[in-house]
Amino acid sequence: MTEDENYFPESVAATYDESSAAMFMPEAVDPAVAVLAGLAGAGRALELGIGTGRIALPLAGRGVEVHGIELSPAMADRLRAKPGSEAIGVTLGDFATTRAPGTFSVAYLVFNTIMNLTTQDAQVDCFRNVAAHLEPGGTFVIEVTVPQLRKLPPGQNAVPFHVGETRLGFDTYDTATQAMASHHVRVVDGRGSFRSIPFRYVWPAELDLMARLAGMRLRDRWADWSGAPFTAESESHVSVWEKTED
Ligand SMILES: C[S@@+](CC[C@H](N)C(=O)[O-])C[C@H]1O[C@@H](n2cnc3c(N)ncnc32)[C@H](O)[C@@H]1O
Repeated sequence: MTEDENYFPESVAATYDESSAAMFMPEAVDPAVAVLAGLAGAGRALELGIGTGRIALPLAGRGVEVHGIELSPAMADRLRAKPGSEAIGVTLGDFATTRAPGTFSVAYLVFNTIMNLTTQDAQVDCFRNVAAHLEPGGTFVIEVTVPQLRKLPPGQNAVPFHVGETRLGFDTYDTATQAMASHHVRVVDGRGSFRSIPFRYVWPAELDLMARLAGMRLRDRWADWSGAPFTAESESHVSVWEKTED
């Protein structure tokens, strides 16, 4: 992973908390923190792609020792500028391969960030890297969208997710390779700016196989952090795998 593949440089980090404001609301944060604190127990928690500390800070506030891995120095700097961050260690690097110090009772990767790894090999490496950090019986939690292919009419490869006067957003899908990209257009004073981020979409069952390759087994899959049942209509999932083998 090179610096060119850092899609969260200073220009994005500077407005990340505002542009993701809904995800910082207590109704989005608190249920996730409650689940993760329960899984951490008396042990340590590892956040992959810790960002500006949206989840890590309140989790540390509950007395859990949290460590993060983060690719973007600018995002890590924003975290370090926040009160409470002194308690949180951050290792800069790619979470598919970077080793953080010590072992953990829970590792977590939220807000669709597994899809930032744009190849299947990198996603498999991520599961293996997590397994290497976990204590026996430790858990790995992923929050990620279900691929929205049912929204694609035949012959079309784009799905809009926001259509407004000052903001346009749409995802594009390549169903042959599972490559996708999110495209964002922002209009200020009648002029647009464009940003595009590549992803790899990944199926729940595919994640279960990646977990098994890394010596983990599915323990729970919910539609959200409240533990609602995961069904054919669920648009995202929170999945928990447990490390069963060393
Ligand atoms: C959508 S943000 C989520 C940040 C935080 N987890 C949250 O929930 O607000 C994704 C974060 O993951 C980081 N990231 C993306 N790919 C990464 C990789 N391969 N290794 C380490 N960090 C990565 C980005 O720099 C960014 O800070």
